[in-house]
Amino acid sequence: MVEIRKVKDKDRSHVRTLELFCIREYLESSLQRNWDDLPSELMEQLGVSAKESFDFYRDNGLSYVAMEKDQVVGFLFSQMIQHIHNIDQVLWIENMGVHPDHRRKGVGLKLLRRAALDAKKKGAKAVQSVIMPDSKNAIMLHKKMGFFMDGRKFAFLDLENFK
Ligand SMILES: CC(C)(COP(=O)(O)OP(=O)(O)OC[C@H]1O[C@@H](n2cnc3c(N)ncnc32)[C@H](O)[C@@H]1OP(=O)(O)O)[C@@H](O)C(=O)NCCC(=O)NCCS
Repeated sequence: MVEIRKVKDKDRSHVRTLELFCIREYLESSLQRNWDDLPSELMEQLGVSAKESFDFYRDNGLSYVAMEKDQVVGFLFSQMIQHIHNIDQVLWIENMGVHPDHRRKGVGLKLLRRAALDAKKKGAKAVQSVIMPDSKNAIMLHKKMGFFMDGRKFAFLDLENFK
């Protein structure tokens, strides 16, 4: 029986391992070098479960773990955004993942539903989710939940050295 609850400090290392596994699964084939040779500074920053980001989402977000018998089998990090695409109060899902041994058992749907319903109670009008464009599982999951997808991707500009 899988239980969904808010993420806690004590979950971080398990969530971190699972999130890095999911990122590796997705990225490894397109990397120019071995995953194990990635610089440790880059590794530390990857994912929402990186230290500072984790703390932010634990305290300010709507973020959850899926637990089975005291084991973290899934996670979802999201936060409320005040205004985006002409809508006030949107739940922004930054990342989610389910352990491969627990996929296709409804855990992803449970996590999404819990986040969406909690956000609705807090006044959210919509949910927006970051989906890797060629991640079939994620696309199918969001379709099943009733998300509308029109093939748009997000573009990202780092402003640190932008003049
Ligand atoms: C995407 C992911 C979170 C789905 O989690 P999950 O627990 O397996 O999803 P669910 O079991 O709740 O699946 C719900 C529905 O999504 C669809 N779906 C999920 N995985 C699918 C797959 N591999 N093929 C086809 N449909 C799939 C199905 O409609 C499924 O319902 P069904 O099993 O009754 O047919 C999981 O595959 C994962 O962690 N992937 C790697 C990380 C990732 O892509 N994260 C998403 C970032 S947004």
